[in-house]
Amino acid sequence: MSTRKLYIETYGCQMNVVDSEVVAAILQQHNYQVTEELDEADLVLVNTCSIRDNAEQRVRARIREFGRLKEKSHSFSVGVIGCMAERLKEKLLEEENTVDLVVGPDSYRDLPALLQEVESGQKGINTLLSLEETYGDIRPVRMDRNHVTSFVAIMRGCNNFCSYCVVPGTRGRERSRDPETVVRECKELFEQGYREVTLLGQNVNSYRWKEGEQVLKFEKLLERVAKIHPLLRVRFATSHPKDMSDHLLKVIAKFPNLCQAIHLPLQSGSTSVLGRMKRRYTREQYMERIQAIRKFLPGATISTDIIAGFCGETEEEHQQTLSLMEWAGYDFAYMFKYSERPETFAAEKLNDDVPEEVKSRRLNEIIVLQSRLSLRSKERDLGQTYEVLEGPSKKSDAYLYGRTSQNKVVVFPKGTLKQGDYARVVIKDCTSATLKGNVVS
Ligand code: 5AD
Ligand code: SF4
Repeated sequence: MSTRKLYIETYGCQMNVVDSEVVAAILQQHNYQVTEELDEADLVLVNTCSIRDNAEQRVRARIREFGRLKEKSHSFSVGVIGCMAERLKEKLLEEENTVDLVVGPDSYRDLPALLQEVESGQKGINTLLSLEETYGDIRPVRMDRNHVTSFVAIMRGCNNFCSYCVVPGTRGRERSRDPETVVRECKELFEQGYREVTLLGQNVNSYRWKEGEQVLKFEKLLERVAKIHPLLRVRFATSHPKDMSDHLLKVIAKFPNLCQAIHLPLQSGSTSVLGRMKRRYTREQYMERIQAIRKFLPGATISTDIIAGFCGETEEEHQQTLSLMEWAGYDFAYMFKYSERPETFAAEKLNDDVPEEVKSRRLNEIIVLQSRLSLRSKERDLGQTYEVLEGPSKKSDAYLYGRTSQNKVVVFPKGTLKQGDYARVVIKDCTSATLKGNVVS
């Protein structure tokens, strides 16, 4: 049988990036080869995200584009995988007639069998969630462009049930991956020339693996990965404020290759909103965690996620978000308008009552404030020297683009350096998004 070509497009979070690599690995063993050329694809997979309505609308538009392409040029099958597949199930087959295949995040091992059904002219669907599946034994086929940085999933699913969030519904219950397979994968990446891994989970702080009577927690796993090699940088995402321990911060302080960047989603600075969000911490408890980061990791950057205009949010509650942002002085933030998601607690029990224009205005205030904070954070680096790990510059051959341990992007003249090298760079200039500098010997 001749090799078939798989074209895969990934939306959403970093976990989806890894999942696409797992899917490529599963299909590679069944005679499929990844292609970057849509024109030659026999199978197009769209790995999807349901986190906000606009993410889903974008994917639907793209699916319809594939439909038109199918009519105009060559024939190929279209599969929807990931969170939208899980959320919408059969509905996707009914509503989007281009779609031949629907597979949820825990059913990727079933893809080869489902594709056989598709080839015989049927539609294929599997959206069963699992309590055990971690794809721990599968070596993902890397599809990154730079061969320097990679993501490694250490757990799947989520048990937090924040009231606004689809993830527990689309990715099922939380389960941790065998640490041996995590460490092995990171080691292999290092041997292949990768110099940075980001360990991924919806809530890495609740990672736990039982070995006989012993329980291995996230702190220990991180330490094991850090010990692979001093030249392997290690990042992780995401932490939940209610579970982020001092112990973790101390481990980070101990290993120079554990990156000095903590992503700690705030969502709202108001205790009453946090209550409605079911985040299980108060404004004060969150602030205490920021103080702990500052104490144990004085040089670390702190980034966050914020939702504007959640159910019932008053002007005063919104102001509390702004004041907390200012107090924390975030180095970076992802900022969103609340988007009601079907079947979540908020959709069923709370009122999405903040008018659209108020949501927009509040989001805008949050963005304007963060731009100021981001610029201030970059300006603090002027004149400082940082170790930067190289990736290629997207825009120019003469420049390299890398990141500091603090996860700030630095652009500088290439000289004789190449991808995967560490450079010492003195910072000369900045914008709110980027640092610019020169290499020092
Ligand atoms: N609406 C808006 N933003 C959301 N997020 C999660 N669910 C929603 C929603 N329904 C945001 C949170 C989360 C990030 C990944 O996406 O800030 O941390
Ligand atoms: Fe990732 Fe959440 Fe989007 Fe699923 S819904 S792809 S878990 S961001």
